Amino acid sequence: MRYLLRWTPLESDMTNITNRAVPTRSSLSFIYVTAGLVVTVLLFGTAGVLWLTGSSNGEMPGGAFTLESSSGQTVTNRDFRGKYMLVYFGYTYCPDVCPTTLNAVAEALDELGPRAEKLVPIFITDDPQRDTPAAMKRYTAAFSPALVGLTGTPDEIVRVAKEYRVYYAKHITGPGPNDYSMDHSSIIYLMGPDGEFIAPISAEASPQEMADKIGKLMS
Ligand code: NI
Repeated sequence: MRYLLRWTPLESDMTNITNRAVPTRSSLSFIYVTAGLVVTVLLFGTAGVLWLTGSSNGEMPGGAFTLESSSGQTVTNRDFRGKYMLVYFGYTYCPDVCPTTLNAVAEALDELGPRAEKLVPIFITDDPQRDTPAAMKRYTAAFSPALVGLTGTPDEIVRVAKEYRVYYAKHITGPGPNDYSMDHSSIIYLMGPDGEFIAPISAEASPQEMADKIGKLMS
């Protein structure tokens, strides 16, 4: 989400406007600030509306999905019945939030010890364009052998993200096809052995805090 606030006018726009010398400096900054706010509200507002729509219906995050495992096999939500799921959405090119969160999840699993056997940590990409099964395999292996990486077609990813009320959006950073980052919400979902939502786990929690909360909720 941090990228959303980096709104700046193009230099050429600035030159064009200032050459005309009609608006004053302060009225210009007012326009820029207002436009920036409108953009921010629109983007954050969409995420908020998605979340609220879900909860006002009494619907909890989670639901059916069909995705692809890192070994290229079809995986559905039913394959995890009988186990708790710890579901997190992100992407392998993520510069900081995803790796930090997944490190904490891996450490929390270590903290849980044998209790972690009832739990499957799942990382679902919101960047299916770059996150192929092979890329997911390499990436998840770096954190924990228990971490399940799931990708899918763009449509499948849109569907599962909607089920989990996950917000994500492409943020273009350059002219090339791979010059982009993904803005995405960062919440870990604890799901029960019946596939039902139990509680959100803060992605900013320490591994110990995560393990404590998950341990309590699983018992
Ligand atoms: Ni991320």
